[in-house]
Amino acid sequence: MKRERSSFSNRIGFVLAAAGSAVGLGNIWRFPYLAAKYGGGIFLLVYLILAVSFGFALMIAEISIGRKTGLSCIEAYRKLHPKFGFLGWLASLVPIIITPYYCVIGGWVVKYFFEFLRGNAALAAEDTFFSSFISVGESGILGNPLFWFILYVLLNVAVVLFGVEKGIEKASRIMMPLLVVLSVGVAIFSLTIPGAMEGLKYYLLPDFKDFSTTTVLAAMGQLFYSMSLAMGIMITYGSYMKKEDNLEKSVGQIEIFDTAIAFIAGLMIIPAVVAFSGGADINAGPGLMFVTLPKVFGAMKGGAIVGVIFFLLVMFAALTSSISLMETVVSIFQDKLHWERKKATIVVGIGVIAIGTLSCLGYGPLSMVKLLGMEFLDFFDFISNSILMPIVAFLTCILIGHVVGTKVVSDEVETSGHFKKKGLFQVMIRWVAPICLVVILLSEILKVLGIISV
Ligand code: TRP
Repeated sequence: MKRERSSFSNRIGFVLAAAGSAVGLGNIWRFPYLAAKYGGGIFLLVYLILAVSFGFALMIAEISIGRKTGLSCIEAYRKLHPKFGFLGWLASLVPIIITPYYCVIGGWVVKYFFEFLRGNAALAAEDTFFSSFISVGESGILGNPLFWFILYVLLNVAVVLFGVEKGIEKASRIMMPLLVVLSVGVAIFSLTIPGAMEGLKYYLLPDFKDFSTTTVLAAMGQLFYSMSLAMGIMITYGSYMKKEDNLEKSVGQIEIFDTAIAFIAGLMIIPAVVAFSGGADINAGPGLMFVTLPKVFGAMKGGAIVGVIFFLLVMFAALTSSISLMETVVSIFQDKLHWERKKATIVVGIGVIAIGTLSCLGYGPLSMVKLLGMEFLDFFDFISNSILMPIVAFLTCILIGHVVGTKVVSDEVETSGHFKKKGLFQVMIRWVAPICLVVILLSEILKVLGIISV
């Protein structure tokens, strides 16, 4: 097949680009709050097992599909099997749901950057600061989360409109390594806070009492989210990968990179939250990072400055991901409705603001609205991570494992070297992953409906 797609110039370029899109708020904001909420060590253990088994198999499958077909997600699924075109659509729905609320969190990050920049480090570390901010309890426009959310969306729209993604990417090549170094520093400091050792134990030592299918579902949703799986993204990345680059090795490196950053973020936050709140804040949910880190910086000499740099770097990590999310949504509109890029970008921007506003105000003026007992942001997060992505992953396993056959993928991997974990890949995609997915999804649905209570 003749390929007209441009490719990454070398394998490391591919790994960096894929990792750059994968590393974002998922690692720094989402992983720590889930790990804290779902039992610490047990969540970490389940996450790691899933990453090297199921995550590995699914990422290999998606990148291979992309490289083999040279197409992006909707067309790629259809090309593999005409009846599976719908799966491409289903997968595309995920970034459409994620982008608006991702930008809400992006807005929170910009707000914290701004507060640290103007010397309000002590204020940000106060107990009620975060809750008063998201419930729109502060006065003035700068205290309103809607302002920061819209600002963040406009920033993304501007980057996509003026086509300066390359600039952001270049900047983030410097910012990302800095973020890693700074995070390691902050994590080490966190561990010196009196009382942190209790938290470290909670984070690292699994307690099997806390294990349930919900732990597995949460860890799996997080794995998909963090590695941008089960949403068609890795198919698109694969379509730009060169035939001769080693696919299996690249997948391993992306996974290690992504997991390492999430692990370090957990080290920064979880021991500290136990130290400061004695565990009371462990269930803080989406606000955990924003409640805990300012306190860590508050306890640190020069923490006010470290905070400015830290939130600036997190902003870059978030931007590279949200720009790539927005790009994905824009290209879905472009391809399907044949809109020109400018129109598609503006319409997507307006849509993101409209839908994201619900999530943004869901902890304040709209807090009386609950969907399945959740606020808007938690609800959108739940629908995409705990429902849609597992379904997409399940159907992908069926398509590869039982409809077109695993050979499609293993042949593709073998064009660029020996497929070392072929056996693992086949067993995971054909049997283990789909069976586990069905069991977990069913038990969760029965739980939500109140039929079982485990
Ligand atoms: N993986 C990203 C993170 O950890 C979030 C994300 C999900 C994403 N889907 C994506 C990023 C698609 C880019 C493209 O934050």
